[in-house]
Amino acid sequence: MTMLERAEAAEHALSEQLERFVAKSAIYTSGDKDPRTPATPPRPAGARVMMGHDPRLPKMPEKPTLIDFFKLRFGPTQHLMQSARLAQKNGVDEKLVLACLIHDIAIAGFIRGDHGYWAAQLVTPYVDEEVAWAIRYHQAQRFFADESVGYSYPKLYLELFGDDYVPDPYIQRDYEYSRNHKWYMSARQICVNDLYAFDANVKVELEEFTDVIGRHFKQPKEGLGFDASPTSHMWRTIMWPTKYL
Ligand SMILES: [Fe+2]
Ligand SMILES: [Fe+2]
Repeated sequence: MTMLERAEAAEHALSEQLERFVAKSAIYTSGDKDPRTPATPPRPAGARVMMGHDPRLPKMPEKPTLIDFFKLRFGPTQHLMQSARLAQKNGVDEKLVLACLIHDIAIAGFIRGDHGYWAAQLVTPYVDEEVAWAIRYHQAQRFFADESVGYSYPKLYLELFGDDYVPDPYIQRDYEYSRNHKWYMSARQICVNDLYAFDANVKVELEEFTDVIGRHFKQPKEGLGFDASPTSHMWRTIMWPTKYL
């Protein structure tokens, strides 16, 4: 095919795909609309639905890696990279540098509420148990100061939640549980190195962490989303967020 033919073929494929009806998952619209009400807009009669790659998004490689998700599906990740760099500077154990690098990937690419739990679940099959544990519990620990390691209640949280905010009972319970756990300090390392706001003048590149990822993230050979791990489907949902079924 000539270049022009290729461009035309791509364009054709794009328009074919875009003719497909995109139904948003209940979770995307719940709140904006009452999930008990019928879908808006309804599927036009006879319309086919999106069943794979959404052409409005950049195409993922056949065997996606964690780095591909960072680059093609996650929102801004300077916060994560700057936290990881700070952890490295503070001499944190390398596998926990990885924990810092991925601690908020749920916010960056999946679901915000209970992000620590979601992120931990996403990565559990691919990281050391302690890394997943630390990511899970950083969310609860963030609400509780530990002056012994120089961690105070985040000023940002006062701004975001108000000074009368009380964490939910399950957060308090999970914090208490984590406090008495042998890996308490691992989750704390994430909190200590978790920057509230990234420095706009510092630009960290993901490539800085290629080796850390290579050593501590077990990339499945089939690609994230195509292995048979218990969380593979979650990666596929991030890859194909508008897939109908
Ligand atoms: Fe977080
Ligand atoms: Fe964070």
